[in-house]
Amino acid sequence: MIGIIGAMQSETAALIAAMTDTTSETVSGVTYTKGILEGKEVVVATSGIGKVFAAVCAQTMILCYAPSLLINTGVAGTLTTALSVGDVAVASSLVQHDMDTSPLGDPVGLVSGINKIYFDADGRAVEAFCACVQAEGGKSVVGTVASGDQFIASPEKKKAIVERFCTVACEMEGAAIAHVAFINGTPFAVLRAISDSADGEARVDYPTFVKLAAARSVAVLRRYLREFA
Ligand code: ADE
Repeated sequence: MIGIIGAMQSETAALIAAMTDTTSETVSGVTYTKGILEGKEVVVATSGIGKVFAAVCAQTMILCYAPSLLINTGVAGTLTTALSVGDVAVASSLVQHDMDTSPLGDPVGLVSGINKIYFDADGRAVEAFCACVQAEGGKSVVGTVASGDQFIASPEKKKAIVERFCTVACEMEGAAIAHVAFINGTPFAVLRAISDSADGEARVDYPTFVKLAAARSVAVLRRYLREFA
């Protein structure tokens, strides 16, 4: 069983619509749809936006469905000139850019207790995602993806995240899902198509390109299920 989480319906509706043999249940307001997609057993949920919704969804999915791999799919803002709208960021690792206990002497981003800043994605899924992006005629970049409870839409914020964490894309859920997966010993991967530039243009880019980017992620993910899962 592969678990798939998207924050918004625009990121999951096409997956759920393509599934057969579906059953669903709702836990804490989130619907988990189990069924067959591209011949593989999957469970898909729309978590809601931000790290808390994402964490609740990931934990529930792990407890109720015990997925062998947890995939977070959707859209992201670019943090590198190597990724433009429609290209795909494949996370090698995830960081919570808004986690900050630095007044206590910790490095910014450190998750106290487990003493980690970066959460590593499943290496096999990373390679397979890149192959799938290429097969779909797209461009992928592998790198660290930053998550936080903020929509990044300024050059200053963008620069600060890149300089601190050396990241390629920003979004609002991936690192929360990675954190939950890590503490449960569940392999995870994050696949994000670029919807905007995460700078002053992002307010305009995002509504214009979010659908296109979400569709790109869906196409890559379906190919992954078909050819690699
Ligand atoms: N998801 C898509 N674009 C984003 C941005 N610029 N900041 C945070 N999350 C995003």
